[in-house]
Amino acid sequence: QPTLDFVTGLPKAELHLHLEGTLEPDLKLRLAERNGIDIGQSTVEEVQATYRFTDLTSFLAVYYPAMDVLQTEDDFFELAHAYLLRAAANGVQHAEMFFDPQAHTSRGVPFEAVVKGYHRAAAAAADFGVDADLILCFLRDHSAESAAETLEASVPFKDLILGVGLDSDERGNPPEKFTAVFARARELGYRLTMHCDIDQVGSIDNIRTVLETIQVDRIDHGTNIVEDPALVAEVKARGIGLTSCPVSNSFVTDDMKAAEVAQLLRDGVKITINSDDPAYFGGYVADNYAAVAAKAGLTSEEVVTLAKNSFEASWIDEDRRAAYL
Ligand code: ADE
Ligand code: ZN
Repeated sequence: QPTLDFVTGLPKAELHLHLEGTLEPDLKLRLAERNGIDIGQSTVEEVQATYRFTDLTSFLAVYYPAMDVLQTEDDFFELAHAYLLRAAANGVQHAEMFFDPQAHTSRGVPFEAVVKGYHRAAAAAADFGVDADLILCFLRDHSAESAAETLEASVPFKDLILGVGLDSDERGNPPEKFTAVFARARELGYRLTMHCDIDQVGSIDNIRTVLETIQVDRIDHGTNIVEDPALVAEVKARGIGLTSCPVSNSFVTDDMKAAEVAQLLRDGVKITINSDDPAYFGGYVADNYAAVAAKAGLTSEEVVTLAKNSFEASWIDEDRRAAYL
């Protein structure tokens, strides 16, 4: 059985990580105090007591209001910097980090403060051996118009952003709602990924849409493609990476999806392991590798393949990729 030390020591890339989901209770309290915001709790224990999630909806209901503490460029810098230090300690050498600009611009925080703060932290991580990039996520429960406006707001910062994604509540917000926005994003030179959550009716149809209509380069979660061998074959043939988040899944869907990860790994799909919202679900990336390995009974060799997949499924540029593989 691969130990936590073994998985920590493996060089890896993290590809499914929401920066806003790395807001640890102590930083949340410190920023609340600094910015004069009453979050209703004053100790780490009180904050943690609010983390009782049974599904995505109950998680998001805690997640978005907490972002009120993030106000200035320095706040965004500190959040990302703290994550990147932890990532380095987990053996992460390359991180592609999601951020949700609409969760901030909708509260009056300038787009520029968000992207500049996060980018400054990403650039500074080179000092401790982490190469980091940003992926702008649209909130799928907001309108397509709002996503289109956010995309246009990103254009002056295009060189600081690697790709775009889609997150938040999938129910009633299928991928085709964003077909035009994603087509424009591709025109702008962004890479494309989308969350395809695994716990709902119709999810497999959404996976078909993101592969065939949106033509994504990667799929976040999406491990329920195992239901359709033809889709598995297509994902494999096209070299599409999947980003699974076992600890998060165990909260949001009551199931780590370890059997699905093991099957996709053995089928030769570029399946990867990631932490999603580690401050809320209580596991950084090495914990996620260890959890899925224990649950599915993976060998050390199979865990090494998962780590290699993380670089292969990444959008790292070709000359840097050569250094990792
Ligand atoms: N935003 C942050 N974490 C998320 C998740 N697990 N699913 C959908 N949207 C999210
Ligand atoms: Zn996610």
